[in-house]
Amino acid sequence: KSTNMELSQKITELKKKKNAVILAHYYQTPEIQDVADYVGDSLGLSQKVISSDAEIIVFAGVHFMAETAKILNPTKKVLLPDLAAGCSLADSCPPDAFKKVIDEHPDHVVITYINCSAEIKAMSDLVCTSSNAEQIVNAIPRDVPILFAPDKNLGKYIQKKTHREMLLWDGSCIVHEAFSFDKLLKLYQSYPGSKILAHPESESHVLETATYVGSTAGMIRYVKEHPTDDYIVATEAGILHKMQQEVPDTLLIPAPAKEDNHCACSECAFMKLNTLEKLYNCLLDENPQIVIDPSIQKKAIKPIIRMLELS
Ligand code: 13P
Ligand code: SF4
Repeated sequence: KSTNMELSQKITELKKKKNAVILAHYYQTPEIQDVADYVGDSLGLSQKVISSDAEIIVFAGVHFMAETAKILNPTKKVLLPDLAAGCSLADSCPPDAFKKVIDEHPDHVVITYINCSAEIKAMSDLVCTSSNAEQIVNAIPRDVPILFAPDKNLGKYIQKKTHREMLLWDGSCIVHEAFSFDKLLKLYQSYPGSKILAHPESESHVLETATYVGSTAGMIRYVKEHPTDDYIVATEAGILHKMQQEVPDTLLIPAPAKEDNHCACSECAFMKLNTLEKLYNCLLDENPQIVIDPSIQKKAIKPIIRMLELS
């Protein structure tokens, strides 16, 4: 069995030979982030997909992210190390049920958070990510009603920021709903003067405690701008790897989860299905690949391009 270092070396050689690019989300394991060509949030990753001239995209993230890369680049090979890397939020919005709500509200503009399937994107007018959701909602005239899906926590947060009512789909992320409010307050009391950073997929009582609410890339930007503070970070714990590299002398503490687990923090089991070994094998075999029905791809690309134009 190869060590992580040997695997990383083999991956680096193979990706050069095959003209492949490795894109990773901040929630991936440290060793995957370190071997990637680019690590980013959902918006940054989509922008990278557009600008890359590689023939193969290895997406170290979850299924909807790799699927978005394939929608944007249907002629390229898009690989995902483990096809079972799903997302509880994307799963909370099944296409048939969503279609029914759209049909019941024909006057609503449909804005979907990028954490959803290609079928859902194909039914949307606009896609957004956590870094541009406010901007995208504000781009819609105030007299036009909005249907927002699938994340109700991000939806509620954007409603408050933009002072407009939206019809919200009842979906959520298991990782961001796993934070314990009581434990968070206790931790905060033991680090007086620390700042809480939270991802908008978190519940509103957690968001209300935060000094900064934003995407993973937004949080990293914030700590870089204010490196002398201590932080409690309420998002998936994988972010601490890159964040700590950016601010090596800053105290960063992952926000505590309700249930104690090995790291006492919140981790996305879907994201963590990807391993260095699976990444190497998928690049070697060029499998598993993301496949999308061409008629869905043609519809789903439109709201993503509109989002990229507005960002
Ligand atoms: P961002 O990195 O875009 O903030 O998304 C977070 C997330 O939950 C991805 O699944
Ligand atoms: Fe989905 Fe939540 Fe995991 Fe992100 S962290 S992939 S939203 S389950």
